Amino acid sequence: MRNPDWWYDDRRHLGLDFEDAAQVATYDARQGGDPARDRALLERLGLTAEMAMADIGCGTGLLACEAAAMCRQVQAIDVSAAMLAAARARAEAQGLENIAFQRAGFLSFEARDLDLITTKNALHHLPDFWKAMALARMHGALKPGGRLYIRDVMFAAPPHRLAQAVEDWIGWLAANTGYSREEAASHVREEHSTFAWAIARMLADCGFDVVEHIQDGVYGQFTAVRRR
Ligand SMILES: C[S@@+](CC[C@H](N)C(=O)[O-])C[C@H]1O[C@@H](n2cnc3c(N)ncnc32)[C@H](O)[C@@H]1O
Repeated sequence: MRNPDWWYDDRRHLGLDFEDAAQVATYDARQGGDPARDRALLERLGLTAEMAMADIGCGTGLLACEAAAMCRQVQAIDVSAAMLAAARARAEAQGLENIAFQRAGFLSFEARDLDLITTKNALHHLPDFWKAMALARMHGALKPGGRLYIRDVMFAAPPHRLAQAVEDWIGWLAANTGYSREEAASHVREEHSTFAWAIARMLADCGFDVVEHIQDGVYGQFTAVRRR
């Protein structure tokens, strides 16, 4: 079905350019991804051998490849062709054959009857109205009782402490990761990280029950179950 003329183009780039070869080549080192941590997360989310899942905004495919070693079928979905190429190369190097790649975004991916959807550090690419649309689409792609896991930058500080929370985060990122102050500042200025309470409300309105919310500074994680 064709989208209406007011539909958001979720392939356009905001903030960091994930089509840039240098950005992709240095991504894992800067991000500090850890396959063991992803595996532990997937075990905690209850991923088992007979399940099908999708990772949206999969980036270089670290989590998607861990998942493919644990379950029946994985859809690795991203808007960036360069990121998907890196994810595909990782899957090939690991000899994984149960992983499919889709160049699409939250508002355009195709999937159904999934047991689990994960999305890490990607939902902030959409403005809030479109986050809600995306969550509704993810709800539709899950089986009843299926799980959604979201990790992202989201703010939990009260408004009068937000500026300090942002400054603290930018300072921490620049000191402890491969991201510069300018890259961190552009995330806040140009991308769409929102409030944790807004994500919680959208999840509830889209037909999810939140079973866990962990907030560690500006990093929020939600695990939610599609209501039956
Ligand atoms: C910060 S990276 C996160 C990658 C990976 N999930 C991780 O945690 O390392 C954000 C990813 O989201 C992708 N992305 C950007 N906009 C998107 C959208 N509208 N739909 C799906 N993915 C998107 C980018 O191409 C990029 O690969």
